[in-house]
Amino acid sequence: MYPEITTPADYLDHYKKSVEDPGAYFAEVARSYIWIKPWHRTLEYDLPQGFIRWFDGGQLNITQNCLDRHALSHPDQPALIWEPNDPSESSRQLTYRELLEAVGRLANGLRQLGVRKGDRVCLYLPMIPEAAIAMLACARLGAIHSVVFAGFSPESLADRINDAGCTVLITADGFSRGDKFIPLKELANQALAVCPQVRHVVVVPRTGPYKPKNAREILWNDLLAGQPTQCEPEPMEAEDPFFILYTSGSTGKPKGVLHTCGGYMVWAGYTLRNVFQTRPGEIFFCTADVGWITGHTYGLYGPLLNRLTTIFFEGVPTWPHSGRLWEIVEKHQANVLYTAPTAIRALEMLGGDIPDQYPMTSLRVLGSVGEPINTEAWHWYYTHVGKGRCPIVDTWWQTETGGILISTLAGVTPSVPAWATLPLPGVQPVLLDDKGHEIPLDAPSSQGYLCIKSPWPGMMRSVFGHHQRFVETYLRRFPGYYFTGDGAIRDSRGNFRIIGRVDDVVNVSGHRIGTGELEDAINQHPTVVESAVVGVPHPIKGEALAAFAICSEPPLDSSALRSELRDLVIQKIGRFAVPDFIYFVPGLPKTRSGKIMRRLLRKILAGDSDLGDTTSLLDPTVLDAIRKIVEQDCKN
Ligand code: PRX
Repeated sequence: MYPEITTPADYLDHYKKSVEDPGAYFAEVARSYIWIKPWHRTLEYDLPQGFIRWFDGGQLNITQNCLDRHALSHPDQPALIWEPNDPSESSRQLTYRELLEAVGRLANGLRQLGVRKGDRVCLYLPMIPEAAIAMLACARLGAIHSVVFAGFSPESLADRINDAGCTVLITADGFSRGDKFIPLKELANQALAVCPQVRHVVVVPRTGPYKPKNAREILWNDLLAGQPTQCEPEPMEAEDPFFILYTSGSTGKPKGVLHTCGGYMVWAGYTLRNVFQTRPGEIFFCTADVGWITGHTYGLYGPLLNRLTTIFFEGVPTWPHSGRLWEIVEKHQANVLYTAPTAIRALEMLGGDIPDQYPMTSLRVLGSVGEPINTEAWHWYYTHVGKGRCPIVDTWWQTETGGILISTLAGVTPSVPAWATLPLPGVQPVLLDDKGHEIPLDAPSSQGYLCIKSPWPGMMRSVFGHHQRFVETYLRRFPGYYFTGDGAIRDSRGNFRIIGRVDDVVNVSGHRIGTGELEDAINQHPTVVESAVVGVPHPIKGEALAAFAICSEPPLDSSALRSELRDLVIQKIGRFAVPDFIYFVPGLPKTRSGKIMRRLLRKILAGDSDLGDTTSLLDPTVLDAIRKIVEQDCKN
């Protein structure tokens, strides 16, 4: 029997069992999947060493669970509905049988190119069915996919390809998002110029016919031509690497978060089913791009594991008209809509009368992810989109956690606007104070560093190629705990409200941007001596980016320099990381030991006149100078 949670009493019962004996609890969950070989030990771990093993000895292939079993029982059910950027282009649909066959053909093609278990394959693709097919084909072969969001620049792509040692790149000629064309292949070419180990480049002709330009390029259709649809799934150890997904942290270099096969599968399927309370056959619309973890877990693997139909949307919510998202919900009769607060706030700005024109009677559950949702946006979403009848799940999790850790279970546990609420079974969140002491549960209301006490199946296992970095970043700050990097509040009933990052990471429109990474990019400009980047509250994006740069000499033309710096960020990271504000300052507030006090920069930007104790600063007069520059800029 699959452990389903359908009542508040179930939740309490499951939670208790999962904490008392996580191994026994998740063994029961895992048994609902197809395993090639059963595991002999459900859980073994030593958190401070970064040693975590779930379902040890078990063998599986996630694609059997995502595809084969459903293709057998429900071959004609759509597995994936693709909605193109331009609504005048036809949408496409792939049934479970068709998707299995497409995956088989590509897997055979990739095998012919020499791709084997453990090889790394980079995907740099728009939201098209080929992205899903490529991820699943890698999984079929046991190759490790590393999906790089198509908004990343060539330099970011090259860094990720080289860090993971990818030997194959799958990309497309180009695509449009809204009215903007992205020449993806040209961008990929720039990256490939410094990636000599890439042996093959598979190109999907998204915009029209494409002719391979050199010996390492091969057209997607040519690779598939003549390939059999059957491809035996590679037996994977539960703890074999499954995929890598790069994410930004407090240091300059992005980390290749590594997930493994068994635990990730169990967590993706289990969390989706229980949080959204789905039933097989339902239509699930997650608006996230596959380039982010939400697109992996709830855009692809989770829905397929639960025999849902997933909607892949290539475009943006407001193009070519402001009701596009609602139109898609109606057109494909989505039962669940899962999106980000940024999108909700942007749509809210356009007025509730737009979604009011769409009855959206198919909707049953609404989800929010990626950043804190403010109360106003929550109510707007509830009223105008859910028409007051769909529960909202505010789901808190991270790239590192593989799937949702804290969330309301739709219609089962009570939701509270702006609160993620309760932990899922198997998740033991605690709040720690500065000294690393647990803040007791009976404290009336508490705030602290959000940490997790014991491993859950979907937890990351390593930073690819840098295991020590995994240990240092997540497991050493508070030994015995996984440190999330977030701050949170807990009420007396154990509900959690996430406040935001406590490290040098800024969350812009749900995209995680490491300030160190951005500073590294800005510092590469020849006239910039040093810079500091901070996040500032923004009504739509959640947070916006503000950069403070010290130049070797005062810039003659500030706006020209600003645009050069913006271009530099586009080149080094991607357009989504361009700062909203750039200030040229004579100095930065630094402690005597040289640490930049970003907190003070945030206060100046907020117009806060009380900066607190600034005696530890090397040169406190710099604050006045910065304040004047910021005020001057506001006047302009
Ligand atoms: O700060 C938290 C915020 O997003 C961070 C994780 O970002 P990323 O790895 O890109 O994954 C995003 C999608 C899961 C977290 O550390 N965050 C995510 N969900 C929420 C959230 N903050 C508040 N409420 C949420 N529901």
